[in-house]
Amino acid sequence: MSSQQKTFYIETFGCQMNFHDSEKVVGTLISEGYAQVEREEEADLILYNTCSIRDKAEQKVFHRLNDFKKLHKEGKRFAVLGCVAQQEGEKIFERAPYVSLVAGSASYRNLPEMLVQIGAGATRVTGLDDRETDQTFATEFTARTNPHRGYITIIEGCDKFCAYCVVPYTRGKERSRTSESVLNEARCMADAGFTEIQLLGQNVNSYRDPAGKKSFAELLAAVGEVPGIRRVRFTTSHPRDFTKDIVDAIDAVPTLCDHVHLPVQSGSSRVLESMFREYSREQYLERIAWMKSTRNRELSITTDVIAGFPSETEAEFSESLSLLDEVGYDGVFAFKYSPRPNTPALQYADSIPEEEKSRRLQVLLEHQRELQRLSYRRHVGQILEVMVEGKNPAKGQLVGRTSQNKTLNFVLNGQPEPGIGEYSCVLVTQAFPNSLLGELAV
Ligand code: 5AD
Ligand code: SF4
Repeated sequence: MSSQQKTFYIETFGCQMNFHDSEKVVGTLISEGYAQVEREEEADLILYNTCSIRDKAEQKVFHRLNDFKKLHKEGKRFAVLGCVAQQEGEKIFERAPYVSLVAGSASYRNLPEMLVQIGAGATRVTGLDDRETDQTFATEFTARTNPHRGYITIIEGCDKFCAYCVVPYTRGKERSRTSESVLNEARCMADAGFTEIQLLGQNVNSYRDPAGKKSFAELLAAVGEVPGIRRVRFTTSHPRDFTKDIVDAIDAVPTLCDHVHLPVQSGSSRVLESMFREYSREQYLERIAWMKSTRNRELSITTDVIAGFPSETEAEFSESLSLLDEVGYDGVFAFKYSPRPNTPALQYADSIPEEEKSRRLQVLLEHQRELQRLSYRRHVGQILEVMVEGKNPAKGQLVGRTSQNKTLNFVLNGQPEPGIGEYSCVLVTQAFPNSLLGELAV
């Protein structure tokens, strides 16, 4: 690295979309002549890619911003990117005058210009979107961190406006990429040695090919047929737009993974209506029934649930518990309801006390843990294919991931050690609520 070269440090909060945005931002910065460093102290430019989906995530960012202060004295520049940037906008400059750039994800396409302005000494550079943009942030400069498994964005933004959710305001309106450009990216990744692809979008089921060539299910199947690609995943799905042809595609194309994340949010039709989710418990269960009637494979289903949404009664909360029993999920991400700026649910009184929200969350998680403790046992005795992800030398184990997205730790049983990113067949010998244990199959 020459002494003249500008350096940057980036830290990312939040979801996979943010993580992948950061990979694109890093690629863009490198193409603009910057070099990435591992420590804030060594960087000329410090970027925080932020999340505001729930309040704790946002508070974390403001804590980190406080830490900026002392580094500012050393003449560094600071940038706040992502959802907190879009949500708080220029107010960030008031709260933290040492920040030079505030940009939401819908304006990253203009990053090179914004970087030039910062380089020229500009102090209050903004990239904030008013939901009007049609731009996507597809770039050939993506710097993927994992050489075997990578993300591809197929749709950005969200038009669903669920009552509790800040995403439509922070990520802007829905914009899909053409199936052609998605497939080109998939082919390039396969050529570069990637074997697993995860298609990303806030709501992948609203994917609409601007060229009118492929539905989401057809795109999924086409990515699965790219030579060299062994596994394809996708996230996140919305039950309202989740169609049966997606299940049929998974059933027909072996490279499409046996896993669907289908956030339900609540088991009560009354609560779902006040969340503006546009489906009932019964309609949700109909989608689950499609997934359970596959001919060739067993699909693993995971979900998100919100506990303590405004006016959720004890009986309605019990409906979320009974839904867990009825579906038999392999994983549940549960959250306490958190009021978010600009969202319609702010009109409702945040009626459930914090301790009661915490209690419901705990009950839900414990209920699910017990279900998984029993249900993961179905895998004992099965031979499952894993992608090797890492090593746990302390335990003498390798860490693998199954097509159903489960962690399967395994011992070698005297056989040669597979490398990271390779695929191995593993005999499952023990089950835990959140992982499996096994040995390399002969
Ligand atoms: N409060 C609590 N959980 C929320 N989520 C989104 N917004 C909120 C909120 N205001 C959860 C939903 C969503 C997941 C990504 O985060 O369950 O599916
Ligand atoms: Fe938020 Fe609903 Fe859009 Fe998901 S579908 S990002 S929960 S508004």
